[in-house]
Amino acid sequence: MQHAPPDFNFCWLHCSPELHLCSILAFPLPAIAKYMEKIRRGKVKFDAGRVVMAGGATGANETLMLCLASRGDVFLVPSPYYPGFNRDLWWRTGVQLLPISCESSKNFKITLEAVTETYEKAQQENIKVKGLILTNPCNPLGTILDRDTLINFLTFTDQHNIHLVCEEIYAATVFDAPQFVSIAEIIADDEICTNKDLLLCCQEFLIVNAKRSRERNEKFTSGLEEVGIKCLKSNAGVYCWMDLRPLLKEPTLDAEVSLWKLIINDAKLNISTGSSFNCPEAGWFRVCFANIDEQTVEIALARIQMFVDAYNSVNENGFLKNTSAKEE
Ligand SMILES: Cc1ncc(COP(=O)(O)O)c(C=O)c1O
Repeated sequence: MQHAPPDFNFCWLHCSPELHLCSILAFPLPAIAKYMEKIRRGKVKFDAGRVVMAGGATGANETLMLCLASRGDVFLVPSPYYPGFNRDLWWRTGVQLLPISCESSKNFKITLEAVTETYEKAQQENIKVKGLILTNPCNPLGTILDRDTLINFLTFTDQHNIHLVCEEIYAATVFDAPQFVSIAEIIADDEICTNKDLLLCCQEFLIVNAKRSRERNEKFTSGLEEVGIKCLKSNAGVYCWMDLRPLLKEPTLDAEVSLWKLIINDAKLNISTGSSFNCPEAGWFRVCFANIDEQTVEIALARIQMFVDAYNSVNENGFLKNTSAKEE
């Protein structure tokens, strides 16, 4: 049987011409392209003919690695980073990830110096660096990369003739200033947007989403602050990066895991350890707050409060006092 050639304007996810099934899911790629443009505040254009769909970012990332690198090659990745990268980018492809350590003393900001240092170290060890992968906005930090940083990284990867992969799956989660800058903006060209219905719909989504995310972030971070827990200041993402270093018995990853177990068993809250994101410093945890309702937020905050109170009552100095003592 002869099949019709694929229509470049559609992405067929499920199609069975032999059975004449009508359960065909099709996404008009021009609409997807417009949606991606809108999320980036209309500042960039995407050519629908060059948009490729995948079953989620997981599959897209693995496919990218298979296309861009070979077994044994290395991609640099700022850490902490999304733990699924170890599985998606690494396991089956044989491509390795080389973390670039970002430190709390610099608010976990990735610097060109750190990238250069990691790259040069790899060169000295004869490791073939094929590229740099960034997540912007970042999971787990909930922070974004500024324009200058993006320009620097683009220049760096150009100069060294390596790939720059920018994962922007959280682009629509930015709820506060500074504004999100897409890598596509840095290399943008000019075209005109047309699909008004989609744009309006998308506009509304972005406004409502930003408002809800901001409110949720504020509620969560201020609730945590009331019990002395600080978070990295963020303006994107569906989570916050919580600093529980003052609660650690000692600054080690073992102590971090012990604290995580204590929180699971006593407070019945499952938060993610920083070490699972390859964070180089012990004591950081990611709390996801967007996939729960208001009541669950209240319950979670109350449980954290109870946990901290109990911790302070068994610890003579209390972690709050410890914190201020360190600051004095
Ligand atoms: C940075 C990052 N990349 C990829 C994924 C996976 O995305 P998907 O569920 O679309 O496969 C996630 C999910 O949490 C993520 O945080």
